[in-house]
Amino acid sequence: MEREAIGILGAGWVGTVTAACFAELGHDVVVRDVDSARIEALATGHVPIYEPGLEELLERNRERLTFTLEIGDVFRAARLVFVCVGTPSTHSGDADLSAVYTVLDEIPEVDHRVVLVMKSTVPVGTGEKVRGALDARGLAHVGYVSNPEFLAEGTAVHDFSHPDRVVVGAFATDDGESVAALYRPLEAPVVHADVASAEMIKLASNAFLMTRISFINEIANVCEATGADVVKVAEGIGLDHRLGPHFLRAGIGYGGSCFPKDSLALKQLAANSGYHFQLLAAVIEVNELQKRRVVHKLEKHLGTLRGKTVALLGLAFKPHTNDMREAPSIVLASRLLAEGAKVRAWDPVAVDEARSLLTGVELTDSLLDAVRDADAAVIVTEWPELQELPTEAVRDSMRTPLIVDGRNLLDPASVREAGFTYEAIGRASSLLSGLPETEEPSRELKA
Ligand SMILES: NC(=O)c1ccc[n+]([C@@H]2O[C@H](COP(=O)([O-])OP(=O)(O)OC[C@H]3O[C@@H](n4cnc5c(N)ncnc54)[C@H](O)[C@@H]3O)[C@@H](O)[C@H]2O)c1
Repeated sequence: MEREAIGILGAGWVGTVTAACFAELGHDVVVRDVDSARIEALATGHVPIYEPGLEELLERNRERLTFTLEIGDVFRAARLVFVCVGTPSTHSGDADLSAVYTVLDEIPEVDHRVVLVMKSTVPVGTGEKVRGALDARGLAHVGYVSNPEFLAEGTAVHDFSHPDRVVVGAFATDDGESVAALYRPLEAPVVHADVASAEMIKLASNAFLMTRISFINEIANVCEATGADVVKVAEGIGLDHRLGPHFLRAGIGYGGSCFPKDSLALKQLAANSGYHFQLLAAVIEVNELQKRRVVHKLEKHLGTLRGKTVALLGLAFKPHTNDMREAPSIVLASRLLAEGAKVRAWDPVAVDEARSLLTGVELTDSLLDAVRDADAAVIVTEWPELQELPTEAVRDSMRTPLIVDGRNLLDPASVREAGFTYEAIGRASSLLSGLPETEEPSRELKA
């Protein structure tokens, strides 16, 4: 394989992982960010984000990686420049492309052919607009390829190195080929598409995953009302080869840096084109409501939450990351505070990131400190260490040993055997456990 000179703009999750993985494949990579602390950290061997395996990968490939604040360093060295800048939501819900357009304004004079490769998630039509902007700036010799990224935080290095597919949308076939060639050692199917379709593949994939999550969460809510167990139901659904098992885990809803903003962006993109994307609107609303259902579960056992202490266990939007962007813990904490509860919170890696977001919440260094004298413990993020939560030490230290398992992480029978009151999401047993002990469940509930 030919050794390439690759440029990366944006040293966030996607940029840093992309840089490390391309270096691992033997390429020379120049990474540029505008955040000097981030570049300084990376240049001195510190990884500013928590992502399993990333630190080792960067260390192993140090000699092929350069970190810089100067965009000129990237364009002087590289033939393929990956754009990995953030595209958060604007107030209108559209994707904020200001960082993408700043990059375009910053492109220096180049005397060799360079291909700009868009890895950031952007609305359909962005490639066309960028192409127009490049041409207007006299940069017709700068190519453009859409190459959306599908990695998930927490498993990003593995996902990048073992992609289900690589999507390449190009205006010029040669440019698309140059990008596809980089991925050849990974032996993944390559979907060659026009630029607009490549952009839509990313948005539609995310929307589909979110639809599955909101779907199983609604099934869970109906399970609670009817006496079925969503974990069993999901197992039975997932074995159907037409459906598959993924993203059928009921819980308190999705969060993170991608799903919430990308669903809004697609909904607004449709609306801006005169189409009301009803299904996606419902998916988003179901997710919002799902986060709040925990409050009712707590009230069912504790009555009013005023003055009660609730421990939130796990704060990051998912395990194995310290990313707090749009984490359900943020909504949950503020709902609980609004109900007058005292909120304590613990996370194995995201406490620092959580500090400025969870005002009014007491952050603790240890799980035991979080649950001490608490009236309830809520599993918000399914960190593996929380599987050990139902211990004697935890039970005895709580004021009331109530666990609300927002991720269906624990086995209901063993948690109850360990002396806890247990509530999960969409599990028949949680409905039955909420009934007065003397009352026999009706036949419908048992069915
Ligand atoms: N995080 C994920 O799991 C994930 C997965 C797939 C796709 N994406 C998409 O990839 C893009 C990047 O996401 P992320 O999570 O890595 O974002 P991030 O916020 O972690 O990182 C973006 C980085 O870009 C830098 N930046 C801003 N302007 C710049 C410029 N002009 N030049 C160089 N750097 C600049 C920022 O300082 C920041 O470090 C987004 O569009 C996102 O939707 C993210």
